[in-house]
Amino acid sequence: MRTLLVTGGAGFIGSNFIHYWLKNHPLDKVINLDALTYAGNLENLETVEHLANYRFVRGDICDQEFVSGLFDNEHIDTVVNFAAESHVDRSILGPEAFVQTNVQGTLSLLEAARKAWSGDSSSCLFLHVSTDEVYGSLEPDDPAFTELTPYAPNSPYSASKASSDHLVRAWFHTYGLPVLTTNCSNNYGPYQFPEKLIPLVILNALDGKPIPIYGDGLNVRDWLYVEDHCSGIEAVLEKGEQGQVYNIGGGNEWHNIDIVHLICDSLDELQPGDLPCRELIRFIKDRPGHDRRYAIDSGKIRRQLGWKPEYNFRTGIKHTVQWYLENRDWCQRVRSGDYHSYYRKQYD
Ligand code: NAD
Ligand code: TYD
Repeated sequence: MRTLLVTGGAGFIGSNFIHYWLKNHPLDKVINLDALTYAGNLENLETVEHLANYRFVRGDICDQEFVSGLFDNEHIDTVVNFAAESHVDRSILGPEAFVQTNVQGTLSLLEAARKAWSGDSSSCLFLHVSTDEVYGSLEPDDPAFTELTPYAPNSPYSASKASSDHLVRAWFHTYGLPVLTTNCSNNYGPYQFPEKLIPLVILNALDGKPIPIYGDGLNVRDWLYVEDHCSGIEAVLEKGEQGQVYNIGGGNEWHNIDIVHLICDSLDELQPGDLPCRELIRFIKDRPGHDRRYAIDSGKIRRQLGWKPEYNFRTGIKHTVQWYLENRDWCQRVRSGDYHSYYRKQYD
């Protein structure tokens, strides 16, 4: 039995992870620490709220004293750190919050764990969830990122995540903190905040609004269904070697424009409108410093830990489109906060 501190558990991947973990590890205790920024939503966790082995705590990972109190009171032996500012476009509009949460916040968690586990850390684990974006951008024919690819972050978001990865590495080498790091490709699935490409396209199409595509639409991302990311984290927690880094990805590269076409066709099939959704596509000014291509080589986690993704992209997208169709109220509510002012700043 473990007691997990899941940070950022009210966000997209964190809430999917909590559902996944409680379903597959019903004897473990999960403490969800989340500041509830624009991206955090407790509604994602309504169906687990009643469980005796789940508890939500509102708080900021940067507040080290508060976090240390949680370690002491809850006897936490496992940290899974999802809490972050996660949206590249927001990092371009305002980088400070990214350095604060992603760098300072990770430092604060590492220090709280180090203090709490200073007596005996033999059964403790600190898993830091990171991104493939720390490796920079690939040319079309470059090999995919491995765990040995040098870091070359290009956006304020990826630079702040890269910094946090370096801190985690240093806490292992210097203090012997039992850390693990995962670098994952782009996720999609239920509960993703509709500022990211896939839910934004689905909801704009449903509302008959323009579908904005940056630049020529030929940027490439490697997409993984969120539940496959959760099972990858589980494999690393259960079988990973301390101090090691594991890349997690779907081996599933797509041009943005092709994904948008796939979503449009899926929507036309599931909920036909007057016009084909593709008519709503608009090519707009490119994102500054827009990374051209990401691709993940997940050979290490597959070979060493026996992990593999279960979801096929076309099925995963259909499932995701269906989820957004069935959860229009959720979409309405998450877009009622500062969503509109961000949207105007970014797209008008
Ligand atoms: P998200 O933006 O949906 O959720 C982030 C969560 O962190 C929110 O619930 C927010 O309230 C919380 N949070 C933010 N600042 C906080 C703070 N200071 N203290 C406590 N909580 C805070 O993000 P996501 O897409 O779920 O990503 C989760 C993690 O996975 C991030 O670390 C991200 O870098 C990483 N990641 C994401 C992807 C992806 O495609 N989304 C891919 C690879 C890695
Ligand atoms: P995003 O979901 O923001 O993830 P990331 O930038 O972290 O990979 O974007 C995915 C891709 O979609 C990326 O190449 C940028 C592009 N994109 C658009 O073309 N239009 C949009 O409105 C958004 C949000 C993203």
